[in-house]
Amino acid sequence: MEIAKRTALVTGGASGLGAAAVRRIVKADGNVAIFDVQQEKGNALASELGQSVLFCLTDVTSEESVNKSIAGAREHFGGIHFCVNAAGTGWVERTVSKSGPHSLPVFEQILRLNLLGTFNVASKAAFAMSANEPNDKGERGVIVNVSSTAAFDGQIGQAAYAASKGAVVGMTLPMARDLAGLGIRVVTIAPGLFNTPLLAMLPEEAIKALNNSVPFPKRIGEPDEFALLVEQIFLNPYLNGEVIRLDGALRMAPK
Ligand SMILES: NC(=O)c1ccc[n+]([C@@H]2O[C@H](COP(=O)([O-])OP(=O)(O)OC[C@H]3O[C@@H](n4cnc5c(N)ncnc54)[C@H](O)[C@@H]3O)[C@@H](O)[C@H]2O)c1
Repeated sequence: MEIAKRTALVTGGASGLGAAAVRRIVKADGNVAIFDVQQEKGNALASELGQSVLFCLTDVTSEESVNKSIAGAREHFGGIHFCVNAAGTGWVERTVSKSGPHSLPVFEQILRLNLLGTFNVASKAAFAMSANEPNDKGERGVIVNVSSTAAFDGQIGQAAYAASKGAVVGMTLPMARDLAGLGIRVVTIAPGLFNTPLLAMLPEEAIKALNNSVPFPKRIGEPDEFALLVEQIFLNPYLNGEVIRLDGALRMAPK
């Protein structure tokens, strides 16, 4: 589906991978509604990029918040054609540590943001897309979910994170099948290691070691390389119901 003059909503669009997707969509002459809890960063990006970007303060885990922001974005831009679910976070805690078993409230919180938040936005965005006139290929919209290679090679301490990202992988095909009749495609990206604020907090030595751990190219990924794949998924009408690893052939070790 061509991007120009169409509208995307990007969760987590104030930072990292989401922000890179926002920039690329705007470069392709599309509109973007940023759904994020970081008001200052989201507004700064929106004012930098101009009229084609609207910041909508949104908590992806809340139905009320997502409904309100989708209504606002539709009213502002006239419809929603693309959805990128990049809001999410990580967590490191072993199933059992010296202080006892894994905190269940924390496990639930990670699932709530990474899994429920993704489905909450994807399902409501798909409902909004169902009102679009199909293009000449019968497409009404495209949804890109963000998992992680941790869905397949979860490391020590990643039980909660890997469970949340594995579930995003698991729902990709059934969602694509559910939405096929509406002409809406669903594709999931499973990124490896990317240079976002999340990773930039690590000491230089740790970043060097991460760079060396990737077979080729021998470095962590740049957010725009993630955004490039988002753009390619939007454009390619035959990509559907698939999970794409984007990791330079990296397979994570146990730790
Ligand atoms: N950076 C990596 O190496 C990497 C690797 C694999 C997967 N991922 C996944 O990619 C996604 C983006 O990661 P990133 O590195 O860009 O992180 P980031 O921290 O730079 O961006 C995440 C964004 O999500 C927003 N967010 C958090 N909770 C929210 C909520 N409840 N509602 C709305 N927005 C919320 C944050 O405010 C932030 O702007 C995450 O799902 C992450 O798990 C990242």
